[in-house]
Amino acid sequence: MRLRGVEYMQSGSALVTGASGGLGVALAHDLARRGYPLVLTARSRPALEDMARRIRKSHGVPVIVQPADLSTPSGVSELLAGLDAQDARPSILVNNAGFGLNERFQKHSLERLEAMLQLNILALTALTHAYAQRMKADGGGHILLVASLAAHMPAPLMAAYGASKAYVLSLGEALHVELAPEVGVTVLSPGYMETGFDEASGFRPNAATKRTALAPSTVARIGLDALFAGKASVVAGNANKLAAMLGRILPRTFMARQLYKSAGERYQEG
Ligand SMILES: NC(=O)c1ccc[n+]([C@@H]2O[C@H](COP(=O)([O-])OP(=O)(O)OC[C@H]3O[C@@H](n4cnc5c(N)ncnc54)[C@H](OP(=O)(O)O)[C@@H]3O)[C@@H](O)[C@H]2O)c1
Repeated sequence: MRLRGVEYMQSGSALVTGASGGLGVALAHDLARRGYPLVLTARSRPALEDMARRIRKSHGVPVIVQPADLSTPSGVSELLAGLDAQDARPSILVNNAGFGLNERFQKHSLERLEAMLQLNILALTALTHAYAQRMKADGGGHILLVASLAAHMPAPLMAAYGASKAYVLSLGEALHVELAPEVGVTVLSPGYMETGFDEASGFRPNAATKRTALAPSTVARIGLDALFAGKASVVAGNANKLAAMLGRILPRTFMARQLYKSAGERYQEG
């Protein structure tokens, strides 16, 4: 069965995490527009049910919802049990749920720090592990991992968040090779988008960052086009591509100092 370059298993469903807001909503709409039945998850059941109603109405595809808190150690197993009970067997997994901690490292509460790492790293890895096995057994599938521009450079004042996304980038680029050809893996690195992320993460973008903002629908299309084209990794938007390239060619301590200087005034001690 050929996987690269085709949107195959059209009848298989797509599981989207973090589907109640921001980029997850855009990814869900784009997948529905491409004809995929959906399985949506996030913590808030009412928000998911509202999304499901809207998507069924706009795109006419079947949608099921399964709430789960993926920042808890039992979140992934509860989600998998709930999906198994609903007979959902997705052939596409979009690991999108995530949040950041944008403040000085020593001000992070350990509880929030651990919850972020659980969600951004452990839950994403456990879901990828479970569905890579299931997709292989079922004849193939696709997995999209949402990283960030912050994965491509050291990110002072969001150091642990950036490190969590560097893990996602590295994991995805390796699995792209290791799981081929049965399972296609692609990493999407968005730059700044105006979503619930700022409030959830305490991010305070400056005017220059705001000017680079792409609409979540644009980022979703770029990510899904790359996934179905069989790419290993895509950075959304030209300004972000340039920044990621600078992250590769400039010395990393220089890059970290520049980013710290430009963001530092927005995160004064106090
Ligand atoms: N916005 C940006 O500038 C930006 C830039 C680069 C990368 N990203 C990445 O893009 C992805 C999507 O972020 P976004 O901008 O769309 O943020 P968002 O608007 O805050 O949406 C986050 C989604 O994740 C869900 N979520 C949060 N905590 C969860 C948990 N503990 N368990 C399960 N679901 C949870 C939220 O739903 P509930 O609250 O209902 O659970 C929501 O659906 C994230 O991985 C983020 O790191 C964002």
